[in-house]
Amino acid sequence: MFLNFPTRMLLGLGVCSALSLWLSNGVAADRISYKDDVFPIIEVRCLECHKPGGEGYETSGLDLSSYETLMKGTKFGPIVVPGQAFTSNLMVLVEGRASPEIQMPHNKKKLTKPEISILRRWVNGGAKDN
Ligand code: HEC
Repeated sequence: MFLNFPTRMLLGLGVCSALSLWLSNGVAADRISYKDDVFPIIEVRCLECHKPGGEGYETSGLDLSSYETLMKGTKFGPIVVPGQAFTSNLMVLVEGRASPEIQMPHNKKKLTKPEISILRRWVNGGAKDN
């Protein structure tokens, strides 16, 4: 190796920033998929209560077992406003912006930051059935 220490540092930094640019492009908002990214979270964290027969479904009418029923929402109406995560009730609840009694998942551990971020980016990207 004929490179001196500062030069090697600079090369290292260059590689790092190229890598992080590549990584951040890989998870751009429009790449979030309902089928591959969103549904797996719902399946593990919400579905036990939000399917016919479950306590969440019986109380609110919200069935999260398919894209169609998710978009239909509760008996009071939609919980997802495509393109607008901030006003979507889904996000209000999972982010804990509503009263603590109705934070979702109900009486369970909050979703992780990466999980919330996936849901938010999916809603902001138009909440597509992709
Ligand atoms: C342990 C059971 C349970 C789990 C798990 C659960 N919910 Fe619920 N959910 C409920 C119950 C019960 C209600 C009715 C709450 C009420 O109206 O007091 C409800 C209501 C809701 C509502 C409607 C609230 C309203 O405005 O009336 C939404 C939206 C919702 N849940 C989303 C979710 C999402 C998203 C998840 C997963 C991240 C989830 N829930 C996980 C039990 C659950």
